[in-house]
Amino acid sequence: MLLEEGAEVAICGRTDEAVQQAVEVLAQQTGGKAFGARCDVTDPEEVRKFFAYTDDTLSRLDILVNNAGIGVFRAVAEMESDEWRKTLDTNLSSVFYCCREAMARFRRQGGGFVVNISSLAGRNAFAGGSAYNASKFGLEGFTEALMLDHRMENVRVSTVMPGSVATGFGRGRQADWMIQPEDVAEVVRMLLAMPERTMVSRVEMRPSKPGK
Ligand SMILES: NC(=O)c1ccc[n+]([C@@H]2O[C@H](COP(=O)([O-])OP(=O)(O)OC[C@H]3O[C@@H](n4cnc5c(N)ncnc54)[C@H](OP(=O)(O)O)[C@@H]3O)[C@@H](O)[C@H]2O)c1
Repeated sequence: MLLEEGAEVAICGRTDEAVQQAVEVLAQQTGGKAFGARCDVTDPEEVRKFFAYTDDTLSRLDILVNNAGIGVFRAVAEMESDEWRKTLDTNLSSVFYCCREAMARFRRQGGGFVVNISSLAGRNAFAGGSAYNASKFGLEGFTEALMLDHRMENVRVSTVMPGSVATGFGRGRQADWMIQPEDVAEVVRMLLAMPERTMVSRVEMRPSKPGK
């Protein structure tokens, strides 16, 4: 959607193949300027290099969308330390690494916009959700503090909290009653289109009629 709006967009993911494939599809579907590079956002050094790559490819950096996320759903007694760490690293620490890079650039150019893709799990705990809930509750706190740190520098910050979305996430369930990925993208587009004087801090979205 951002490409359709005329933005230049750089994406990342954990493998070259997936990123290149996505860049090709995006460019073909929209005719827009899509770029991409491999970057594991749990590694601050890889994040630093990815932002250096965006310095070389994009005209400027106006918008950061933090979307990468994983879900490991297990009772605390069964949760492995690695699963806990990976969930927190992917869903929370990565957002700090990316925002730190973005803030340096936003400062230089006088502002910018951050959209964090959180979850209703950032507000509602559920059984089996300890790591996921902790990461998304943490993301909510981080996002609010980020906004307070940088709002006077013309940085706007929003968080989107979806319920079930039909993607490959977790068990990869797909059903007609679920939110579709493009519905989440539409919310991001709406947030970015707000007049500069106004910042929408948080959007909750859920399936109108949840199935089973
Ligand atoms: N689906 C839902 O029901 C739902 C509900 C609420 C919130 N959310 C949130 O929505 C966001 C997107 O999830 P999704 O549903 O689209 O899941 P998804 O289909 O599994 O996609 C996850 C994305 O994150 C990327 N990613 C994961 N770990 C990464 C890492 N270490 N470095 C770089 N990229 C990484 C993946 O790319 P590669 O695999 O190519 O690395 C993939 O593009 C997540 O933050 C999730 O928590 C999802």
